[in-house]
Order: sequence, then structure tokens, then C-alpha cells
Amino acid sequence: MKLTLKIWRQAGPEAKGKMVTYPLDGIDGDMSFLEMMDILNENLINQGEVPVEFDHDCREGICGSCNMMINGQPHGPQKLTTTCQLHMRKFNDGDTITIEPWRAAAFPVIKDLIVDRSSFDRIQQAGAYVSVNTSGNTQDANSIPIKKADADEAFHSATCIGCGACVAACKNASAMLFTSAKVSQYALLPQGEIEATDRVMNMVRQMDIEGFGNCTNTGACMIECPKGIKLENIARMNREYLKAETLG
Ligand code: SF4
Ligand code: FES
Repeated sequence: MKLTLKIWRQAGPEAKGKMVTYPLDGIDGDMSFLEMMDILNENLINQGEVPVEFDHDCREGICGSCNMMINGQPHGPQKLTTTCQLHMRKFNDGDTITIEPWRAAAFPVIKDLIVDRSSFDRIQQAGAYVSVNTSGNTQDANSIPIKKADADEAFHSATCIGCGACVAACKNASAMLFTSAKVSQYALLPQGEIEATDRVMNMVRQMDIEGFGNCTNTGACMIECPKGIKLENIARMNREYLKAETLG
């Protein structure tokens, strides 16, 4: 497969970036998108050029770091897929592929395709924890009955990998889907009740401090989320917020 890649190159946070075109040959449909990027970088290194910086770690859809806008879509054209899980068979011989970093003020570019997502860490630190002692003297799990539907919803919310595709997809660069998934995973379980009021208030406050935009119910976040995190979480977070405000 022969491809033309148009890639955002930016030497550092303050540097002016630009799209650079790279022809690439010898790409197999069974390669992953990141393996294709590895081949490009090997070629660049062999030519004495600076390789394209991109984030990656697990390469199996778990860590949430392989973030790129591919032809204008977070993680590319395949639904419920991170970039590392995307294969080149999704593209055709002769294709031109544009590759850019996430675009959001709260995710500043560090270099090329790598953005700083530590704003997500700070939202988590603001409330995504429980004070219940879960080591040493843990009660038998079955002594606190939890409805199967709630347990399933909490588990599904917890599958958010913090990739930021929801922010990148949103015209407002809103982090509501991410934050609401983290709030929901505790709001649905009795273990989360102790800090419930502070959690939602503090996490939403931190989300605003970081400069994420507001939600206007467009739903692009859910469409592009590689883990299928649902919009219902946003409604749940809004209810939790209202309850916390009312109860003081
Ligand atoms: S909600 Fe989905 S898109 Fe947003 S950070 Fe979590 S896994 Fe990524
Ligand atoms: S490299 Fe970890 S999710 Fe893609």
C-alpha cells in the first residue's frame, strides 16, 4: 500500500506548527496504525530527519495514550477503537491521511502529536477516590447487596481510559463525558456515598478551572468514545451536582 501522510509537526509547546507531507510505501493492511507510524519514523531516522513524536504505551486499547486525529476523527474511522487497535486495512492504496494532535486549550501540544492531558489527572485528583478502607479489613463483598443493573453501569463507567477523544470530538472541547464517567462509577455504588457531595462539586469545579468548555448535548463525544461511554453519565452527573448544591 502506498500512502501520503500529512502530519502536524511542532517542535515544542511555543513553536509554530505546520502540516508536513510524507510519502510512505510498503504498508501492509495487517499492520496497526501505530506500526505504520513506526515505519515512517524508521525511514525518517534513516534519512537523518527528526521522527514524529506520538504517545503510546499498551498498544492494546487500555492506557488511553495513543491519541491522534486521523482524517478529522479522534482515533480514526473505526468505531469503539483506539488508534493502536486500528488496522491499515481500513485504508486504501493511494489514500492521503491527515494526522493531527487533539485540539483543545486544556490539552496544550507538547510536541508534534503529543498533548499534555494532565488536566484530566487533576480532575481525577479533585474527587475520583473513596475513603473506605478496602485493604486488610474488607467486608465480604456480598454483605452489601448492589443491584446488578447498577453494578453493570458502574463497571461500564469505569472502563473510561481517559484518552480525551470526547474532548477532541466536542465543538466546545467539553470534558463532561470523561468527568461524568468518573463521577458515575462512584455515584452508583454505596462505597461512593461518603464523598458524593464534595466529589461532584470539586470535580466539576476543576473541570472549569482547566478551561474545558460546556456541554451542549451534541453527542459527538459518545460517538467517538473508544469505550462507548454513554451520555446518560452526563445526565447523572448533572443530577448529582444539583443534589449536592441543594443539600449544601
Ligand atoms: S469518556 Fe471515552 S473518549 Fe472520553 S476519556 Fe473516557 S474513554 Fe476517552
Ligand atoms: S497505546 Fe494504549 S490505548 Fe493505544
